[in-house]
Amino acid sequence: MKNIISIENISLENMEHLFNVANKRDELFNTYKGVLNGKILGTLFFQPSTRTQLSFQSSFVKLGGSVIGFSDIQSSRSGSSSSESFEDLGKIIESYCDVITMRSSFDNDIKSLSSNCDIPIISAGNGQEEHPTQALIDIFTMQSYIKDLNEVNLLICGNLHYRTINSLLLGLRHWPDINIHILTPEVFNLDARYIKKIEKLKNLNIYHDYEELRKKNILNKIDFLYQEEFHNGFINSQDAYKQFKKFYLTQEIFDMFNKDIKILHPLPRTKTLPTWLDEKENSIYFEQARNGLYIRAALFLKLFEHI
Ligand code: CP
Repeated sequence: MKNIISIENISLENMEHLFNVANKRDELFNTYKGVLNGKILGTLFFQPSTRTQLSFQSSFVKLGGSVIGFSDIQSSRSGSSSSESFEDLGKIIESYCDVITMRSSFDNDIKSLSSNCDIPIISAGNGQEEHPTQALIDIFTMQSYIKDLNEVNLLICGNLHYRTINSLLLGLRHWPDINIHILTPEVFNLDARYIKKIEKLKNLNIYHDYEELRKKNILNKIDFLYQEEFHNGFINSQDAYKQFKKFYLTQEIFDMFNKDIKILHPLPRTKTLPTWLDEKENSIYFEQARNGLYIRAALFLKLFEHI
């Protein structure tokens, strides 16, 4: 593993190795205390982020490393003041850091940064395309409840044109028998770029209404609901709420699920999930966010050959 720009850059063997280490959770930071002493992580977050940015930073610091970086492209020379290319930015930063993590609004920015840069680059979200480390977290979180994902019924509800779902589906191709039910507005059907790549997933069906799932008696079989958002670069959260309200979780829908269902959400939830869920054992989205710390720590340990 060097650059991680797609979940396809991580083999199943490496994924399992990372999960074994991440599974040590807080103990991991005692076992590997100080091993990144002297290492520097460069964080380039040219799009807003809470979970990804801070868990990358926190895990690196907890392992003894230091962090430098930008959270606004305009404060770098790649902003409008000079528009330095991402190819040059990568070349410049490799002298100051040992590893870079970057988030950008555009699909190809991270690939451009990596094209001329000799240190590892980890995507923290490349445009609409992929969010590979989030998919690791999602799969790790689900596996901590049901080890063999081939036995799982997963309902994904959200915008199929967004990076989290793209990476999740690509990551899940290692479990070809998993039952995936996708609930999405018709405007967000599967991105043509991914259809071929996920053809190994034998049991993938798409729905456009909760009613279709209810009639087919699927809701009471769902093990995990992966709730996603509907806004993206083009639709803000207020407009998304008006347009896609019927896909948001309500008490009525929750009552149709099996009582042990676990609910994940990789992003800020807006109104897609009600806050009364937080107290229930079904909600594992805060645990999922915390797992970001362990997965990203394991990733750094692997990149620097401590595991
Ligand atoms: N999961 C995720 O990308 O969340 P943030 O935008 O808060 O980083």
